[in-house]
Amino acid sequence: MSDLARDNLSAMIQALGLTKRYGRVPAVNGVSFTARPGRVTGFLGLNGSGKTTTLRMLLGLVRPTAGEARINNRRLRDLKHPVREVGAVLEQGISHPGQSGRAHLVSQAILAGVGGSRVDALLDHVGLTHAAEKRSGDYSLGMRQRLAVATALLGDPPTLVLDEPANGLDPEGVAWLRGLLRDHADRGGTVLISSHLLAELAQLIDDVVIIVTGLVTCEAPLTSLYGAAAGRLRVRSRDQRRLWQVFESAGGRVTRNGDALEVVGLTAEHAGEIAFHARVPLHELAVEAPDLEQIFLNLAGS
Ligand SMILES: Nc1ncnc2c1ncn2[C@@H]1O[C@H](COP(=O)(O)OP(=O)(O)O)[C@@H](O)[C@H]1O
Ligand SMILES: [Mg+2]
Repeated sequence: MSDLARDNLSAMIQALGLTKRYGRVPAVNGVSFTARPGRVTGFLGLNGSGKTTTLRMLLGLVRPTAGEARINNRRLRDLKHPVREVGAVLEQGISHPGQSGRAHLVSQAILAGVGGSRVDALLDHVGLTHAAEKRSGDYSLGMRQRLAVATALLGDPPTLVLDEPANGLDPEGVAWLRGLLRDHADRGGTVLISSHLLAELAQLIDDVVIIVTGLVTCEAPLTSLYGAAAGRLRVRSRDQRRLWQVFESAGGRVTRNGDALEVVGLTAEHAGEIAFHARVPLHELAVEAPDLEQIFLNLAGS
């Protein structure tokens, strides 16, 4: 892969008040957000919330009723070489079923005017070398997704837009895709990826944009979503009442959860020291992992 640094500072995707009406109810209603270079941005929303419509407007495949999309700070129609600036993996399959994976990539490269010299390297990059001569119609869903990713990378674009690319991938495929996209962002590229599952993307994304029935309700770094949930402790001992007292007098907020206490406002280190000084032996002290899917559903539920 060539160095992405050339377009580093401008390889940005912007939605500026994008709106699409199909009937009376807008499918997408004034959506604005920015996906930045060096970061993976997750575009999250339940099914039917407007993700695909927004991404297709960003790629110039659906004409907005209002608003505009900008890639690298330019309107789509002003891009000189769109496939060199933005690569896309969309929901529907793109290859002719009778064509082999290699034939598909070569013909797409010709159509895009980028030459076929990278085809073999790309087949290798997406793990399809062994199936290069096979009819793409005989590919598994996961292999078709890999071919779609290779197609998106043909023009070596700094910007990648992927619509639910993890659908149909097995866990190994999801891990592979995460590695590829993280690497792309680490080299200065911009990645915008949609999903209806936060947990699927939690290990990958840096920023989140949440869309609820056509409206963006949240645009933030992923970690800021965790909020108080990230610092919740679960504590067990034989003397819960004494622990409750000492935690509260140290400033913790304590609630009961079954046979354990849940504490917010203290670090695990602090809670352990407090218990030690109160001479209460601990049977369990754990930092609760935030329930990502619950956080997402709270934000994404309409
Ligand atoms: N071509 C279309 N004609 C009419 N309605 C559409 C069309 N495409 C999408 N919609 C509607 O727009 C809404 C958003 O759809 P979509 O963007 O596909 O959501 P998502 O990708 O988040 O599942 C849905 O209610 C859908 O039915
Ligand atoms: Mg969709």
